[in-house]
Amino acid sequence: MKVITSIREIQSIAKQTKAASLSIGFVPTMGFLHEGHLTLLKKARQENDIVILSIFVNPLQFGPTEDFSTYPRDFGRDCALAECEKVDYLFHPSAAEMYPVDPSLKVVVQDRTDVLCGKSRPGHFDGVATVLTKLFNMVIPTRAYFGLKDAQQVAVVEGLISDFNFPIELVPVDIVREEDGLAKSSRNINLLPEERNQATVLYRSLNAARETIEKGEQNPKKIISLIKEIISSETNGQIDYVEILTYPELKPLVNLENTIIIALAVKFTKVRLIDNLILEI
Ligand code: PAJ
Repeated sequence: MKVITSIREIQSIAKQTKAASLSIGFVPTMGFLHEGHLTLLKKARQENDIVILSIFVNPLQFGPTEDFSTYPRDFGRDCALAECEKVDYLFHPSAAEMYPVDPSLKVVVQDRTDVLCGKSRPGHFDGVATVLTKLFNMVIPTRAYFGLKDAQQVAVVEGLISDFNFPIELVPVDIVREEDGLAKSSRNINLLPEERNQATVLYRSLNAARETIEKGEQNPKKIISLIKEIISSETNGQIDYVEILTYPELKPLVNLENTIIIALAVKFTKVRLIDNLILEI
């Protein structure tokens, strides 16, 4: 595995790879790798000739009061894990390399952002879409791998790829969970010990919602109330949102039909966690 920090170098490698008619599987991350990221890397390894992993904690997608400075980082450990997954190139640019001057342009996401995390984190998806546009132009991937843990991100990236005509296949990957059901996240390490135990309620509340739907409940408002009751009775965390929407359009719905997402976010002392369930009705 080769670690690359220069944009010019990764772009030249990507161009040569493409010129040799080899496919590039790309896994963009912010590092502090866990089983979720590794699952994306494994899939990329299976499906492509060359695998490129990027690790860049993108300042553009963090709000002024968010956790950019406390976002966990451990580059040495990440390198060892990436090596085990047979990554060919680990692209690890500095912020100065990615944003050398005040940018004259940014990507503004118009659709699918007035709900869920887009609503609670204004500008977040503009930051994600902007950095991904840059990374896609550097890495020129054949396929790009994204986890459904961030289902709204997948929906936004789908829009980015189709609206801007990137010749990239988007590969969504299912959520990887801890044994007790908590969705794996780099941020879980910032939960206090008692919060780590309480945090399992996120997935339990989603499963309770699934069960009531299977028993015939059709009213989204009732399902949302049930989830909120379960979460508030079992944690001190503050509910940021619980929403049920169409997926991937992320539109409000009256009746549960076709593909829906039940998504939630809960704020703990130092960390805000998200989780979701996508169901075919
Ligand atoms: P990050 O949070 O590091 O996540 C990188 C990728 O790993 C994302 O596609 C995310 O959905 C996926 N992932 C994280 N936890 C997962 C889990 N438990 N199961 C499955 N997949 C999981 O998402 C970002 O970084 C950034 O926004 C980025 C796309 C890199 C742009 O800066």
